[in-house]
Amino acid sequence: MLELVVLISGAGSNLRALLRAAQDAEYPARVVAIGADRDAEGLALGEEFSIPTFQVSYGNFAGRASWGAALADQIRPWTPDLLVLSGFMRLLPHDVVAEFGPHIINTHPAYLPEFPGAHAVRDAIAAGVTETGASVIVVDDGVDSGPILVQERIPVEPHDSESTLHDRIKHVERRLLIQTVLDIANGTVDLKEATRA
Ligand code: GAR
Repeated sequence: MLELVVLISGAGSNLRALLRAAQDAEYPARVVAIGADRDAEGLALGEEFSIPTFQVSYGNFAGRASWGAALADQIRPWTPDLLVLSGFMRLLPHDVVAEFGPHIINTHPAYLPEFPGAHAVRDAIAAGVTETGASVIVVDDGVDSGPILVQERIPVEPHDSESTLHDRIKHVERRLLIQTVLDIANGTVDLKEATRA
């Protein structure tokens, strides 16, 4: 059974889908803790699904390094097999990536390397593209620059707003995330190999 710590910054709708999948006894992964870098709405999922939560607010620290060290202190006791960034909107400091990598994955609402960063959906609409996508990657020190594990194209409709497009992307992201965690658990996806490639 793969034990996951999931980090969020927002509503946690993708996390909710993962938690639902993990309720199936056949699914080979369980979320053991949920963490956030702020008072994220999705932390309420901890109570709903009886999973411990922690919050390491960026604003309470002098800088990225001390924040990262405190975040790692919260993650470490759970000895996760995999860290999942699910709408976690901060770059992990090098030390955190070095400690938990390559067992860290991130979902991203674009077809990387297109539209990296915090505003991928807005950027895709602004660029006027007719298709964007969703990706699940291994986290490295860069901004959405790690090896791509899986990705899928999603059309941009002429009347899409950022929110209608993001909703459609999230549906795909949830499926990709649930499948990727399953693939990692059953060994079909090997994160060490993906990082070497
Ligand atoms: C998701 O679309 C996720 O890919 C994105 O934030 C959303 C979180 O939604 N992450 C990024 O943009 C990271 N660069 P949720 O909180 O409802 O799951």
